[in-house]
Amino acid sequence: MSALLRLHNIRKSFAELTVLDNVSLALAAGEIVSLLGPSGCGKSTLLRIAAGLDAHFEGELERNPLLDFGSSSGIGVVFQEPRLMPWLSVAENIGFVDGRKADHRWTQQLLHDVGLEGRGEALPKQLSGGMAQRVAIARGLYGRPQVLLLDEPFSAVDAFTRMKLQDLVIKLAAQYDISVLMVTHDLDEAVYLSDRVIILGGQPSRIVAELAVPLAHPRDRRAVELAFLKGEALTALYQQPT
Ligand SMILES: Nc1ncnc2c1ncn2[C@@H]1O[C@H](COP(=O)(O)OP(=O)(O)OP(=O)(O)O)[C@@H](O)[C@H]1O
Ligand SMILES: [Mg+2]
Repeated sequence: MSALLRLHNIRKSFAELTVLDNVSLALAAGEIVSLLGPSGCGKSTLLRIAAGLDAHFEGELERNPLLDFGSSSGIGVVFQEPRLMPWLSVAENIGFVDGRKADHRWTQQLLHDVGLEGRGEALPKQLSGGMAQRVAIARGLYGRPQVLLLDEPFSAVDAFTRMKLQDLVIKLAAQYDISVLMVTHDLDEAVYLSDRVIILGGQPSRIVAELAVPLAHPRDRRAVELAFLKGEALTALYQQPT
C-alpha cells in the first residue's frame, strides 16, 4: 500500500453505543488531513484507533511497513490536552520514553524547533498554555515519527497563539517530512492547514463529506478560496444525517 496509514471499515462501540460505523480513510505520505465533526461524534475515538492505542474495534488498521523502519516509532501523538508530567522539566517531558535516557541533542533541537530554546529546565507549571502545547508537540516529534496524530491540540489557547501553532505544525511537517492527521472542530483551522478535510457525522458517525484543499503552502488566511471551502465544509456539517 502506498498510504502510510489506512483505516478500513472501522466500526467501534462502547457497550450498547455504536460511535463509528463504516469509516475508511487513508493518510498518504506528506499529507495533512483534518478530521472535523460535532462534539462526541467519535473523533478522539478514531484517532486513538489510528494511533494503535485502542485495539477493540471492528475493521482494519493497516500501517505501512515503512512506519516501523529503523529507530523511528512511526507514529507520534499529541493529545487534546498537553498531559505533561508536572514533576519533570520541559526537556525531560519531551524525551520521556519508558525511562530510557533522553537524547540531549535531539531534545535541544526540538526545543529550538518549537521556539522554546533555553526553556528546557523549566517546570510545566511555569509555562503558559501555548508553551505547554508546544512542549507536547515536541514530545510528539521526539520518536522521529513519519505520522503525527493531533487531537484538537490548540483548543485551549487564544486565537493568535493558535494561528502561530498552526504555522508551526505546517513548518515542522515539511521540515521533517511528516504526514499529519489532525482532529479539530475549527473550520478555519481545517481548511487553512489541510490538504483534505474529512467530515464525520450521523449516529453512529460515518464520513459525510470530504473536501480537497488544492492550495500550496504558505496560504493566505484571507484567501477567497479558503472562505469558499469553509462554506462548503459548513454546509456539510449542517446537512448532517441523523
Ligand atoms: N472509554 C469510553 N467509554 C464509554 N464511552 C466512551 C468512551 N470514550 C468515548 N466514549 C463515547 O464515545 C463517543 C465519542 O467520544 P469521542 O471522545 O471520540 O468524541 P469526540 O468527537 O472526540 O468529541 P469532542 O469533540 O468533544 O472531543 C461519546 O459519546 C463518548 O461518550
Ligand atoms: Mg475529542
